[in-house]
Amino acid sequence: MIYLDNAATSHPKPEEVYVAVDTALRSCSANPGRSGHKMALEANRLIFEARENISRLFGIKHPERIIFTQNATGALNLAIKGLLAPGDHCVTTSIEHNSVVRPLHCLSRQGIGVGRVNASEEGLVDPENIAAAINKKTRLVAVNHASNVIGTINPVAKIAAAAHDRGVPVLVDASQTAGTVSINVEESGIDLLACPGHKGLLGPQGTGFLYVAPHINLKPILFGGTGSRSDIEDMPDFLPDRHEAGTLNTPGIAGLNAGVLFLIKTGVESVFNHEDLLCKMLIEGLSDIPGVKVYGPGSCTRRAAVISFNIGDIDPSTIGNRLDAEFDIAVRVGIHCAPGAHRTIGTYPRGTVRVSPGYFTKQEDIETAVEALKTIAGCG
Ligand code: ALA
Repeated sequence: MIYLDNAATSHPKPEEVYVAVDTALRSCSANPGRSGHKMALEANRLIFEARENISRLFGIKHPERIIFTQNATGALNLAIKGLLAPGDHCVTTSIEHNSVVRPLHCLSRQGIGVGRVNASEEGLVDPENIAAAINKKTRLVAVNHASNVIGTINPVAKIAAAAHDRGVPVLVDASQTAGTVSINVEESGIDLLACPGHKGLLGPQGTGFLYVAPHINLKPILFGGTGSRSDIEDMPDFLPDRHEAGTLNTPGIAGLNAGVLFLIKTGVESVFNHEDLLCKMLIEGLSDIPGVKVYGPGSCTRRAAVISFNIGDIDPSTIGNRLDAEFDIAVRVGIHCAPGAHRTIGTYPRGTVRVSPGYFTKQEDIETAVEALKTIAGCG
């Protein structure tokens, strides 16, 4: 199979990730932070090491402020619901995924205002428009680093600066950039960073995290045992325990740690350069097919490795099904859980075909995909 659906979940993983999950399951799957025996302490050490390595990758100074979650959605829900209260206002954008849209919609029924800034048709969010949308009640700006449909990399440092000028913290959804585009939370002024473990960070599904800057205090949204301060009925007042109720996914976090170590060794910029080359090859190849429209930024703008396109009037699902059935090529079609992004680029409700190469995608894979698309378009 040629796997071009890395924006949904990366595949394959580095060999070290499979080994780490297997090893953790076999010899380190006691409960971290609970019992005091050797295997539990080893599990605890592994979780600690994962927090440290994630901190290295993202320029985070306080590893204990990394909260492990099931995925980016869990991290985004914690940030949004943990920060906002009735009467507050949140500024967000037209290109957010439903993992931001839906929690905000839910809160809007509880008296929380939501202001939506339109991104350009290229998927770019203007920091000045963010600043203009902030009002006296705004407590949060929630913005996508790169849309999972369009891929344009947004200027989060400038957006953070504009928000901070008005005393408002910024939540960055790095679902499509963590591990593939360099992110330094301190340098960019990111207050809350939500990341999935199973995409660019090359870990298993069921992993993700939220980084919470020291000046941000979130209400817990999940309650339960932590193995700490078990004598009180409140959640502990220290991180990460305050937000990590219930047993952690130790084998998954072991795999995530191995993925992060692979990225530290390889270099995120090398990953970006490889994926960027593949995206340029794909766009070039698509330009030879009559009727193709590629959405998103022009070729000189930095983009995450997602390319959305349509071919004339052919339904995107027909293209996806034929790629899968006839050519064994995996892509994602439709509206990608991001209807606002499709409204922004004018493809709602039909959607697009989305190709998302990864670090292990080869140039020949892109050449094969382009040939397959030419056949489907009737010009091969
Ligand atoms: N959010 C993931 C995607 O874009 C699942 O496919």
